[in-house]
Amino acid sequence: MAMTSQKIKVAVLGATGAVGQQFIRLLHNHPMFEIAALCASDRSEGKRYDEAVHWILDTDIPAGVRGLALQATDAAMVHSQNPEIRFAFSALPNESAEQAEPAFAKAGMLVFSNASKYRMALDVPLVITEVNHDHLNLLRHQRIARGWAGGIVCNTNCTVSGPALSLKPLHEQFGVKRVFAVSMQAASGAGYPGVASLDLIDNAIPYIKGEEEKLQAETCKLLGTLGNRSINDAAIDVSAHCNRVAVMDGHLVTMSVELATAATPEECAAAMHDWRCAAVAGLPTAPDQPVVVRTEPDRPQPRRDRNTGHGMSAVVGRVRPEPLFGKYGVKFITLAHNTIRGAAGGSVLNAEMVVRKELF
Ligand SMILES: NC(=O)c1ccc[n+]([C@@H]2O[C@H](COP(=O)([O-])OP(=O)(O)OC[C@H]3O[C@@H](n4cnc5c(N)ncnc54)[C@H](OP(=O)(O)O)[C@@H]3O)[C@@H](O)[C@H]2O)c1
Repeated sequence: MAMTSQKIKVAVLGATGAVGQQFIRLLHNHPMFEIAALCASDRSEGKRYDEAVHWILDTDIPAGVRGLALQATDAAMVHSQNPEIRFAFSALPNESAEQAEPAFAKAGMLVFSNASKYRMALDVPLVITEVNHDHLNLLRHQRIARGWAGGIVCNTNCTVSGPALSLKPLHEQFGVKRVFAVSMQAASGAGYPGVASLDLIDNAIPYIKGEEEKLQAETCKLLGTLGNRSINDAAIDVSAHCNRVAVMDGHLVTMSVELATAATPEECAAAMHDWRCAAVAGLPTAPDQPVVVRTEPDRPQPRRDRNTGHGMSAVVGRVRPEPLFGKYGVKFITLAHNTIRGAAGGSVLNAEMVVRKELF
């Protein structure tokens, strides 16, 4: 369907959670989208949004959303009550996404998912808009293969967004062969209430279930190439250690990278800092610069740098030689806001690109 002057009506699933709240913040007053339904669990169904939500953002709940009633996460009911809803922004936990997201796709809505359930499915695009928006074309095949009028587009795991954005220009210019990554992940990455405060304050937890596998697999799919009916994964060896630290928002990842062709740290820093994706120019949620490289020795820091580009830019620092890989080695640290670039903001930008490409 071609873009019209009218806003596209959207539903938010998991609207009361950590990611759902960012969706609400980003979608109210959005120039292309209009919130038409808010869904959550049966614990919240029927309640006013401001009664049901434990709001954790620094901005207020938008006035136009406060009094909206929460609905059940029931695709048929949402569709029958408002058949004009075309997109469903999903912040559902994996367990509920498994059933609910295909139901919304079948009912004709395009689901922008943050759950991991369908990320690695062959016909599901896993997309960071600037990195691989061409993968969105898989939607055409997905619709035919699954018989859906709608579809599913997935976001990456929040820890993957900073590494994938910073690796993309390096892969384009020099080729990336091996990556060794160590994460320091914020508390909000586990949702609300997330990790118990008594476990996290004055502490770091060296295990996050399933996270290392996701960082390894999703990076290769994101940097892969679009084939006929699936993605040809990039041939990059990724090894990850994932840790939870006592930070509110913003995942830091240290990266040691082996390139296919020799490059100096200065050349790598310039490749990342200068990289732009022309296809996103003018989209409302696109940052001016997808990767910002800082030169101070002690940046990026989550508290100071996570809102760079309204939380949509990855921030890289400490770009220096990696002696383990000789003249092919570079190491640096990358930061991305997990609930914005790594979740809601990433989905909204993907949706803006779907509209631009007229893929719905
Ligand atoms: N947090 C992050 O940084 C981040 C980043 C990327 C991806 N993700 C992914 O995004 C999704 C949401 O994460 P989150 O951090 O926002 O989680 P969260 O804070 O725990 O929020 C979960 C939301 O899902 C709803 N919900 C729970 N069970 C449900 C059910 N059975 N049926 C319908 N709705 C249900 C909750 O509604 P009630 O209030 O009614 O319980 C709430 O709105 C997860 O898949 C997560 O892995 C999170």
